[in-house]
Amino acid sequence: MEKRTELYRGKAKTVFTTDNPDRLILEFRNDTSAFDGEKVEQLDRKGMVNNKFNNFIMSKLEAAGIPTQLDQVLSDTETLVKKLSMIPVECVIRNYAAGSLVRRLGVTEGQQLNPPTFEQFLKNDALHDPMINESLAISFGWATAEQLAKMKELTFKVNQVLQALFDEAGMLLVDFKLEFGVDSAGNIVLGDEFSPDGCRLWDKETRKKLDKDRFRQGLGGVVEAYEEVASRLGVPL
Ligand code: TMP
Ligand code: ASP
Repeated sequence: MEKRTELYRGKAKTVFTTDNPDRLILEFRNDTSAFDGEKVEQLDRKGMVNNKFNNFIMSKLEAAGIPTQLDQVLSDTETLVKKLSMIPVECVIRNYAAGSLVRRLGVTEGQQLNPPTFEQFLKNDALHDPMINESLAISFGWATAEQLAKMKELTFKVNQVLQALFDEAGMLLVDFKLEFGVDSAGNIVLGDEFSPDGCRLWDKETRKKLDKDRFRQGLGGVVEAYEEVASRLGVPL
């Protein structure tokens, strides 16, 4: 499959068209961004690690019955995916309090959330991804009520599958963000990526941070932590 033209350049991935109108190529770059693109650095090996990590996780999710856009890995940093029309609503589940929730509500970081919470954010860097809700998404036509219900159902299903997967590998899945799109048949399909760039993972015993918070907070050892997560899960790098 040959890359044709660049369709979209995001903060960490570039999307290319292919000669098949139903397929796109995702290229995972080494660019690492935080605070809606305010802080950007190139981290060696990150593109390769995230591409392989994403392939591993998406395959597990497919096997658990969650429709994903994954087709096949093409190289260290490129993956062939189904073309989706992306919905600009980011779905976040939190199992423990961290990040913007702690800032917004003044709660203690690390507090377990029972049951887990579900939040939606508008994908818009210029507005810093403001929190939205189902009513706003429907009124502005970002998604239909049926699509939003499916996205929520699938996000909770992903949480069940991945909480167990990370738990077995000695990690807590603190929170994560998913993006969905609509395929040519009108189905809601999981798109974008799942990697330590878009979730929080802590060591179960020490609560050491093993995700992009190491970059956001300047803790160092960012890619080394991603590689540790991959190694604990048995992801071949
Ligand atoms: P938050 O605490 O900043 O709201 O983020 C919650 C989780 O979702 C965290 O794992 C990071 C992820 N996330 C992204 O990866 N990109 C985003 O644009 C947002 C809003 C969240
Ligand atoms: N992914 C967003 C960014 O790159 C938000 C974040 O992770 O802090 O700016």
